[in-house]
Amino acid sequence: MSELVVRRLLIDLEQPVGRHWCGGDAFLTAWFNALSMSFPLGEQFFIDAVRNGFKALPADQQPRWQAEMQGFVGQEATHRRIHSLFNAQIEQHGLVNAWEPRARERLKLVEGSDARHALAITAANEHFTALFAEWLLSHTEVLDGCEPRLKALWLWHSAEESEHKCTAFDLYQALGGSHSWRKTWMRRVTLIFLTDTLRQTVDNLRRDGTLWQWGTWSSAVRHMMGSKGLLRLSFQPWRAYFRPDFHPSQQHSNLSAEWLAQNTALFTRVGTA
Ligand SMILES: [Fe+2]
Ligand SMILES: [Fe+2]
Repeated sequence: MSELVVRRLLIDLEQPVGRHWCGGDAFLTAWFNALSMSFPLGEQFFIDAVRNGFKALPADQQPRWQAEMQGFVGQEATHRRIHSLFNAQIEQHGLVNAWEPRARERLKLVEGSDARHALAITAANEHFTALFAEWLLSHTEVLDGCEPRLKALWLWHSAEESEHKCTAFDLYQALGGSHSWRKTWMRRVTLIFLTDTLRQTVDNLRRDGTLWQWGTWSSAVRHMMGSKGLLRLSFQPWRAYFRPDFHPSQQHSNLSAEWLAQNTALFTRVGTA
């Protein structure tokens, strides 16, 4: 069980966000924007999955899960609220969130099914966000040149994703979720997540008028496939998820705790939701 603190990030997202807010880099901006577009719906799904998983536990097991469940829900609820504000700003740039309606339709397919399916989907997505968080916290230079409030937004979210990366996985295990379904959902989530990210990023770039610029593609190759690129560095840790003895805590990192300890001025502690 881990103690999950809910924090209120002290940034103002009522002010407009620059068109190429990520250090003037069109690709990084479009890609982060795409990820943000997936969060309000996705994180609500994770919240519901964990809440329903908690309710499916035998009554005598629920008390020991109560605090972690509430911490998880509080953190994700805070993320989706603040990313909704961020998304409202980037819509002013003429971007259109096509990811959310597609995902909404897809998620209807698992409505009413065994709580473990939604938890396995959540655990797979949480593995992705944990890998992304680890990459971003260890390569914060990616956010150099971006407005301090937006740098704070992405690093705070990353730090908390890293903090709560075990919750959905542990709940799935506690409910007797099988290894084979866990692998099946990871395969599906991988395909869907990568396709949706790519589609939304391309659409953002097209609407921005920067899709066919050399700088866009060189940034994409460097940040995804280069020696410090996300896809290159995350492939092995992604694959580890398929091992029968995998657990998210095996990929431990101190970066989340370090960032949170060094940036206490950026948030207030609001306890659990
Ligand atoms: Fe989150
Ligand atoms: Fe999360």
